[in-house]
Amino acid sequence: MNIYAMLQDKLQAIREEAVAAFKAATSSKDLYDQKVKYLGKKGSFSELMKEMGKLSKDERPKFGQLVNEVKNTLEDLFKELTDALKEKELNASLEDERIDMSLPGNRMRLGKKHPINMVIDELVDIFSRIGFSVRLGPLIERDRYNFEALNIPADHPARDMQDTFYIDEQHVLRTQTSPIQIHSLENESLPLRVLGPGAVFRSDYDVSHLPMFHQIEGILVDKEVSMADLKGILAYFAKEFFGPNVKIRLRPSFFPFTEPSAEVDCSCAVCDAKGCRMCGHTGWIEVAGCGLVHPNVFKEAGLDAEKWQGLAFGMGIERLAVVKYGVRDIRLFNENDMDFLGQF
Ligand code: DAH
Repeated sequence: MNIYAMLQDKLQAIREEAVAAFKAATSSKDLYDQKVKYLGKKGSFSELMKEMGKLSKDERPKFGQLVNEVKNTLEDLFKELTDALKEKELNASLEDERIDMSLPGNRMRLGKKHPINMVIDELVDIFSRIGFSVRLGPLIERDRYNFEALNIPADHPARDMQDTFYIDEQHVLRTQTSPIQIHSLENESLPLRVLGPGAVFRSDYDVSHLPMFHQIEGILVDKEVSMADLKGILAYFAKEFFGPNVKIRLRPSFFPFTEPSAEVDCSCAVCDAKGCRMCGHTGWIEVAGCGLVHPNVFKEAGLDAEKWQGLAFGMGIERLAVVKYGVRDIRLFNENDMDFLGQF
């Protein structure tokens, strides 16, 4: 057999092989790989062309034309098969990614105010109606503001009433909102009515104590202020916050920064003072500490204790929220459990 016929056979064989391989391809990627294998730079046709040197001068263009024809048919076949495979692949992926509109979606939960902030907002609203305006003090306080200026000297046993987080010798995380009283007395003109809500810190943790909790402080200073004013304000607060039938009572107590001092009980709004779990079956719930501003506090703030009189009170926000909403464990307020928070 002459060389021309032999190369022609070879060409025919490659063609058949390539057509079979193209048709057998199951994906467009697979098909492309086959195309590279036969028609690519290092493919079967390139190999075959290398043998063209063995042909005579006039056989070469003839054979070259033959090779081009075969290549063109293969290119056409490749295009045709690629289109078909691509369409199949597209349909498959559309089918695959099909969205079932009847499936239930992911429920979006709306964010809401935290119950602690709801209570603070309500208290601010209640007290602003009788002339109090809000002041926020720093969370890190100098010892002087948290203790000294509130008539709690260094070795005073009252310091043991609060487990203090010390930052250093001079600074503490405030254990109470009472330091806001001192900032106001030092910086504002008198008379004044200030309400100070915010976070406070004590080293304590169980069902009824959190290391960070919230208080709200109130201070009113004027020329003539009495226990009657104090009781009137607290009675107004109790009715507005817990309901019109709620009564209050004051029990004598001790705080270094007030004299006299008292603890404030509200009649239990949960059982209408009949006695229940919330009030420990006493009909009363303790909600605040209060008193008349101690002369030493005025003196510490550089004010004339003969000229000015004041009343002050402090309440625990979590405590108010627990009573108002009937929450059993105050740690729930810090757990960010949407099911719990969503109930308010
Ligand atoms: N600071 C007190 C505490 O944390 C609460 C308190 C009591 C605040 C009496 C007052 C007050 O303003 O007059 O226990």
